[in-house]
Amino acid sequence: MSERDGREWWQDGIIYQIYPRSFADGNGDGIGDLRGIVERLDYLRDLGVDGLWLSPINPSPMHDFGYDVSDYRDIAAEFGTFEDFRTLLAEAHARGIRIVLDLVLNHTSHEHLWFQESRTARDSPKRDWYIWHDGHNGQPPNNWCASFGGKAWEWDEATSQYYLHSFLPQQPDVNWRSPELKAAMWDVVRYWLDMGVDGFRLDVVNWFLKDAELRDNPTKWLGARPYDRQRHLYDRDRPETVEVMKELRQVVDAYPARMTVGEVYREPPGSPALAASYYARGEGLHLAFNFAFLYCKWKASAFADRVDEWEELLGPDCWPVYTLNNHDQPRSYSRYGVGGESDPRARVAAAMLFTLRGTPFIYYGEEIGMRDGTLKKAELHDPVGKRYWPFHPGRDPERTPMQWDDAPHAGFTTGTPWLPVNDDFREVNVWRQDRDPDSLLHWYRALIRLRRREPALHRGAYRRLPDTDAALFTYSREWEHDRIVVLLNFDRMPHEAHVPAGSTWEVCLGTRQRAGDTLPGGPVRLAAYEVLIVKTRRGAGA
Ligand code: GLC
Ligand code: CA
Repeated sequence: MSERDGREWWQDGIIYQIYPRSFADGNGDGIGDLRGIVERLDYLRDLGVDGLWLSPINPSPMHDFGYDVSDYRDIAAEFGTFEDFRTLLAEAHARGIRIVLDLVLNHTSHEHLWFQESRTARDSPKRDWYIWHDGHNGQPPNNWCASFGGKAWEWDEATSQYYLHSFLPQQPDVNWRSPELKAAMWDVVRYWLDMGVDGFRLDVVNWFLKDAELRDNPTKWLGARPYDRQRHLYDRDRPETVEVMKELRQVVDAYPARMTVGEVYREPPGSPALAASYYARGEGLHLAFNFAFLYCKWKASAFADRVDEWEELLGPDCWPVYTLNNHDQPRSYSRYGVGGESDPRARVAAAMLFTLRGTPFIYYGEEIGMRDGTLKKAELHDPVGKRYWPFHPGRDPERTPMQWDDAPHAGFTTGTPWLPVNDDFREVNVWRQDRDPDSLLHWYRALIRLRRREPALHRGAYRRLPDTDAALFTYSREWEHDRIVVLLNFDRMPHEAHVPAGSTWEVCLGTRQRAGDTLPGGPVRLAAYEVLIVKTRRGAGA
């Protein structure tokens, strides 16, 4: 479905991440599922999204809630049947919505048949599909740590060797240096492409290859946990991994209009340079997440500088991607929530997200301003939270059920939800915001509509405008004769901004000014947290 001019749907469109467990429960067992998603497709179409990224839906013992896959070619029973998946695919496509699956290819579940076979004997044909090694004097092969805590090596009595797990012991890392393993993974990719899936989000791609000699990581003094006190030179971020991405690109590009977006995870402050390397100048992943926005302080220049950096790293030929939320990080509404200002801040952030050059990814509930849930220890499910409570609540707070209406359990389920619903659901829900033209939901819809309508916004060139006022982020987007200027005030005080002189500007959308009104170029006073998006056509006189 490539456009005539070489544009792809995933460049012009926006993508909505669903955490299937928490989105909508179709059968009342308290766990979100595929039927639930199908029932909400009209809502997603009306919101204006072009694609859905589903967090993993494959069978899994759920030690890491699907990020531990025991069968890459089936659907987890708690999410539905294969028939349900085909229905979802067809119903989504009928509404012009693409489906992007989450592929977890750095590790499998310990219950995957490949691992079961691999662990039976040192000479098992699948032994080298995983990373096995002898210990040293009764100790693990090297000093690597698991990112979820503890050592990265697990002793396996049956064959008296250790296996590597970068995350939980129930998530053994596969060996991407094995040609058979790699071929098996590419078959998995083709299996879903043949079925008509439109793309993949690839889990922790920067972990795929490890140092061939398994060298110790150098250590450092600062850091809360042993994992944080290592420099991860050898257990991840290996430059060789990019070659694997190039192979993946070949597999995917054999099918028209498909895409890949990689998770290139880095702890704060993130690493846009590392993420950029995974594009391999257009020969690697189509897109890679750069976590910089998820770690930005609420400051205009913090965001503006990260955009400039990302634009420069990618250049005009690679396509950026921006996101403020996902299932692993505190929600932006809470991160940027101070007193009564979380709502105006959410509007500024959304206006930025939908008007930058690049594909915006949003996370379910972001559009209604869902907050992180406040959960008690006994209510936690995420192994990270259970391990580090009370220092780290884990990732359950950002995974609480979608708030649909003010019925019991927010309309998410008729049963008992697997995670408690946030207690603000009677005020914060889709039903209520749908009826309120001033709601955040209507603001998201308006921004998405505007982005879709204006080629300058979904494909135009980006240029930061010189603004001496540190509270403002202002930039232009240009396409053919159109020029759009976006003015964002990140502050609770009014500030004076500048609309370029020499033309008459028409308001496209704003938090205060009415669409269709015109203004001359020159200084314009922005109220607290004001968003103003204006447009001119070249040749339109002053
Ligand atoms: C990624 C996922 C996260 C998961 C981890 C291990 O970071 O987003 O949810 O726990 O990989 O698969
Ligand atoms: Ca269910």
